[in-house]
This record gives sequence, structure tokens and C-alpha cells, in this order.
Amino acid sequence: MHHFHYKNNEMYCEDVAIAEIAGQVGTPFYLYSHATLRQHFLAFEKAFEKAPHLVCFSAKSNSNQAVLKLFATLGGGLDIVSGGELFRGLKAGVPADKIVFSGVGKREDEIKYALESGILMFNVESFEELEQIDRCAARLDKKAPIALRVNPDVDPKTHPYISTGLKKNKFGLDKDAVVEAYKAANACVHVEVKGVSCHIGSQITQVEPFVDALRRIQELIAILEGLGICISCLDLGGGLGITYDQELPPHPSEYGKAVLATLGDSRVTLIFEPGRVIVGNAGILVTKVLYTKKGENKDFVIVDSAMNDLVRPSLYDAFHAIEPVVRNEKETIKADVVGPICESGDFLAKDRKIARCQSGDLLAAMSAGAYGFVMSSNYNSRPRVAEVMVKKNQFHVVRKRETYEDLIAGESVPPYLR
Ligand code: LLP
Repeated sequence: MHHFHYKNNEMYCEDVAIAEIAGQVGTPFYLYSHATLRQHFLAFEKAFEKAPHLVCFSAKSNSNQAVLKLFATLGGGLDIVSGGELFRGLKAGVPADKIVFSGVGKREDEIKYALESGILMFNVESFEELEQIDRCAARLDKKAPIALRVNPDVDPKTHPYISTGLKKNKFGLDKDAVVEAYKAANACVHVEVKGVSCHIGSQITQVEPFVDALRRIQELIAILEGLGICISCLDLGGGLGITYDQELPPHPSEYGKAVLATLGDSRVTLIFEPGRVIVGNAGILVTKVLYTKKGENKDFVIVDSAMNDLVRPSLYDAFHAIEPVVRNEKETIKADVVGPICESGDFLAKDRKIARCQSGDLLAAMSAGAYGFVMSSNYNSRPRVAEVMVKKNQFHVVRKRETYEDLIAGESVPPYLR
């Protein structure tokens, strides 16, 4: 359920006509629905209300300050993978003790920043990282709370670029190594073993891979208990999928039921790191048609947004529905919706049936709230687009469009070239 809908053939976000925003803000822009964000976050929360838990929204999927602030006010924590995301989270008011730090390559300065901030825990992915964290904590005379990330070797049945829990992936430690790593962690004076973590992939549309992973983790926890290592937090990562096209992923409540049933009467605190399932369908990218042209076999619709604004179609061949902001009665055509960038890979949609459109029409790339703006770049010196949030009948620019000056703000020409 989301709040992008048609009224008299015109697309609205909650109670605001999208064409109205385009008129004031210009195009392209990302548009988020406050009610949808809130509803999706609370649906995830509710799925686990019967168990001690913390929902740490995955900042990498959408790290706008307004979005992070909303989840913070709803009591959420944050899953971060860099010092930059830690900074964003703290600025948005996420309490440090609700922040988990994941990622295979945490730098020393990032570890120090996280220790000084007092985060909930580090999800550690290698022996060397463990040693680094122990050293940093010793220097600061602190004890670093950690979980080890186990790679449970289950197939999430998703796109190979976004599956992370297979042996061949770079993430986590496999089940033999992880036991050794726990022993090592337990022996570190400046490390406090708190939990186990795992994340098996993204855009997962079935519950079975999650349940398989959880079962394997339960076996691990039993082994650890036998060694006298007590686990109080179980971080199951993110990964729940959404509907982009025809997919029918489980609702968070179904996912919740399956996880809680598998867990039985264990009283560990559950941590989740959902990203896409919360923000994916709460955002769209609004773009304008610049030109249309007829090819031999198909039409091209050339729009003012490109792969630098939304890279998912180019990078993963991902599907985003393309909808007209104002519906018309025109015939359906088969077209490639492409951007102005000088690459054949620059497209938002390929061979797509859409209503015939013309220069000046507005189109929406749907389901663009996750891994949309955050993956955008300045390629072809295109200023990054604005982000807008709607709440009921009001909209607010939550990130202004970059200017040409912004493009060169950090650059400097050495004296010998002046
Ligand atoms: N936790 C960890 C450790 C992760 O690596 C990820 C995503 C998440 C949580 C959040 O996963 P989610 O709930 O959003 O599935 N750029 C790709 C997705 C990459 C996901 C990377 N890790 C895309 O556009 O599909």
C-alpha cells in the first residue's frame, strides 16, 4: 500500500498533485510520501511486537535527513556502513546506542568515530577487523560491543549482485571460521561479545531463505553456548523484497510470523536492518519528456533524468514501472525510455509498453525510494536532482537541486596552471 494514486487521471502523492510540485520545483526530482514511509516502518515494527526487537533502518537505501529523522522519531535505530552514514544518523537524531555498524571494510578513523559515539554494536566481518577494533578500543580505553557476521551459505534466489550470504560472496565468516573468531573475540580484553549477525541478500521474495539462515544461526548459538559464549542480540539483517513488477514478496507480518515461529521461546533481542521494504515503494522519480523519436522497430522517449539519477535499470537491469503523471487516452506504444547521457546503457526502461507521450509530459519511475537518490552521481556533469517529501496537502524540498557551482565547488586548479 502506498500513497501515489490517480484522481481524475492525474497522479497525486497523498493530497498533492505531482504536476503542481513539478511546476514549482522543476524536474527531475525524487518524491517521497511521508504517510507511506511511516506506514511501512510501523508495519515492520508491528510484525515483531511480540518479541524484544530493534528495527535499524538501513541508511544505505535512503539517507536523506528528513527520512532518517522520521524513523528516529518513530523509535527506530540505524544500520550504517560508513562514517558518513554515522554522521548522517547522529545529525538526524538517531540515538547512538541504536546504531549498528556493518560492512567488510571499516576504516580505523570510522571505528574510532563509532566507539567515541557509543554505538550499539559493530558487525565484524573478519579476524583482522576484530583485531583492529580491539586495538582502537584499547587506545580509547573502551570495550567495543560486537557481533560477528556469519555467512550462512544460503541461496537467497535474487540478483547475483545483491546476494551476500553465499560462500562465494565476500561477506561475513563461514561457519567454521566464525566459531574460531568468537573464541578470539572472547579473549580480546577490549571487545564485548554481544551478538550474531547475518544478512543474506536483498530483494528476497520468499521467507524460506530467511528461515534457513536463522536455523543455521541457531545451531551456531548452541555451539557458542557450549563454549560459554553468551549471545544476547541476533541481527538478521535486511533483504525483504518489494513489488516492482509482478513479484509477490511476503508481507512483513508473514516474514515476522515465520521468524518468530522458528525462534521459539528464545529471548534474544532481535535486530533487523530493513531498507528497501520500508522506502522502496514510498518514493518515485519524476521526470519530463524532452523529445520523442521513431526508430525502425520501436520508439524512443528521451527524458530529462538519466542513469546518473537512477542507476538501477542500467546496473542490474532492474524494472521500474513508468507511469504518466497525467493519464491520457492515447494509444499504447512500445518504447525505450532513455536519458541524455552518452551511453547506450543509459535507460530507465527498455521495450516498455507505455501510453504515447509527447515533449513536456511528466513521467514517474515508480518504486524508486530505495537505492535511488543515494546511488546517484554527477556523471556527465549533471547536477544531482532535488528530493521532495509530501505530507498530506503539503510538500517540502528535503534536498535542493544541485547547481552548476556545486559541481566544481571542491575542485582547485594548481598554481602552475593558473
Ligand atoms: N544490511 C546489510 C548488511 C546490507 O548489506 C544491506 C543491503 C541491508 C542491510 C539492506 O538491505 P535491504 O533491506 O534494502 O534489501 N543497490 C542494490 C541493493 C544493494 C543492497 C546492499 N545491501 C539495489 O539497488 O537493488
